[in-house]
Amino acid sequence: MRIFYLGSIILCFTLFNFVCAKVCEGLESIRATDECYMKIALSFGLTHNPKAPFGTLIVDHTTNEISCYGVNSNKKNTLLHGETAAFWNCTELYPSPTDNDMFNPGLNWSIQTLYTTGEPCPMCASQAIYRGVHRVVWGSTVEDINYSGCPQLMINMVDVLATSKLGGNRPNPKAPILEGGILKDDCDRAFWCAFSSFRGKSYYEAMKKEGLEDFVKDRHARFSCDAKLKMYHYGL
Ligand SMILES: *[C@@H]1O[C@H](CO)[C@@H](O)[C@H](O)[C@H]1NC(C)=O
Ligand SMILES: *[C@@H]1O[C@H](CO)[C@@H](O)[C@H](O)[C@H]1NC(C)=O
Ligand SMILES: *[C@@H]1O[C@H](CO)[C@@H](O)[C@H](O)[C@H]1NC(C)=O
Ligand SMILES: [Zn+2]
Repeated sequence: MRIFYLGSIILCFTLFNFVCAKVCEGLESIRATDECYMKIALSFGLTHNPKAPFGTLIVDHTTNEISCYGVNSNKKNTLLHGETAAFWNCTELYPSPTDNDMFNPGLNWSIQTLYTTGEPCPMCASQAIYRGVHRVVWGSTVEDINYSGCPQLMINMVDVLATSKLGGNRPNPKAPILEGGILKDDCDRAFWCAFSSFRGKSYYEAMKKEGLEDFVKDRHARFSCDAKLKMYHYGL
């Protein structure tokens, strides 16, 4: 079973298309399903941009089909964060049949879940809200990523979402459900290792000054970046 499962993931990556997109179907819980998709998002990020392993999947959670993928594509366009790349990719793949993306999108966004290795930044969080995606799931938090040395806009998605109101200050009924911390250790490790070059003298000095030496020690102890290939690709 497990071999079959890993084999399916390999096949999906090899074929790199939608033939075997249902690899995470039929798992026993939402948590297990979330972890399964997050593994794919992380492997996708690490495979396509190991220096910035922000990988994203958008999944139709009613059919368990992967609608599209995205990865941080900063070489091509620095604004193409993983989530942004995925939103654009889904819209290209499923254009509005009536040329009216706002009122008649080609994908039913109310049944899509977005999986992403790092908590969406305010730019990507806004897109998830505008797009009306049903649920947003991530691994590492903005704080985790920032503490690995790569500076972030320090706004959590929950705070971006809190500003989304309809007229008369009514709640936005399409506000996505948020869930962080899925495969957190694996995602934290991926970012910690990917951003090692950001951790120069000033990083260690700042962390020390802020009383975060134990945090740094813990990361070094738990996340050995030498073993990255084995770990990163889940033995694939
Ligand atoms: C969408 O993503 C797939 C998989 O990453 C890629 O093969 C395809 O070229 C992308 N299409 C567009 C229009 O971005
Ligand atoms: C989108 O999916 C929901 C839930 O299945 C359904 O109620 C709704 O009618 C669908 N919207 C469209 C435009 O197909
Ligand atoms: C972001 O990370 C740096 C270390 O690179 C740290 O000094 C700073 O306090 C962090 N910012 C926040 C708001 O946590
Ligand atoms: Zn972003």
